[in-house]
Amino acid sequence: MPPLLLFLSLLSLLLPHASSLDYCVADLSLPPTPSGFPCKSPSKLTSDDFYFTGLGVAGNTSNIIKAAVTPAFSPQFPAVNGLGLSLARLDVLPGGVIPLHTHPAGNEALVMIQGTLCAGFVDTANNVFLQTLKKGDVMVFPQGLLHFQINSGGIPALAFVTFSSPTPGLQITSIALFGSNFPSKLIEGTTFLSDAEVKRLKGILGGSG
Ligand SMILES: *[C@@H]1O[C@H](CO)[C@@H](O)[C@H](O)[C@H]1NC(C)=O
Repeated sequence: MPPLLLFLSLLSLLLPHASSLDYCVADLSLPPTPSGFPCKSPSKLTSDDFYFTGLGVAGNTSNIIKAAVTPAFSPQFPAVNGLGLSLARLDVLPGGVIPLHTHPAGNEALVMIQGTLCAGFVDTANNVFLQTLKKGDVMVFPQGLLHFQINSGGIPALAFVTFSSPTPGLQITSIALFGSNFPSKLIEGTTFLSDAEVKRLKGILGGSG
């Protein structure tokens, strides 16, 4: 075989494999694995698989925190599955809060679009880092650290966040303690909170036990 033909036939063998390594759009019909969802067959993908429109609309803030997080993680936006990143939209009404929480699996960067957020995190040496964020400001929240955002202005706050993981995870401290069936006596023993305060918070956040 002439060298050019040999080269082209080798290239044609390689190309389908090369493109299948470029991305791994999640096949949500299959169960996730520790390294993410299995990939949708590349031959079934269209440009719509790499497109997501859900962040254009404010989330529902009619709730106790007066805030909404609208995620574009793998389950909502399967294209991020293989890319090591994801996004979300934050809507926080005046007086609203994204309560103290962590993302166990990803760093976070927040970009302010509208309004004012007081944001902060606590590192593992218990240093507290606080900022007031206005339009165009960016703050990062390192992986796994407790952090929060509170609307400290008079208008609804809008921010977009991005994570260094397609599935950063979200654990809200107050919900884990007072919105679960964590036995009250153990919460009191492990947090030094009073029985009355634990029962009050469980009443607000729906916990039992
Ligand atoms: C927003 O959430 C509240 C409380 O769950 C619900 O009653 C209301 O119908 C929701 N609004 C919209 C527009 O979905």
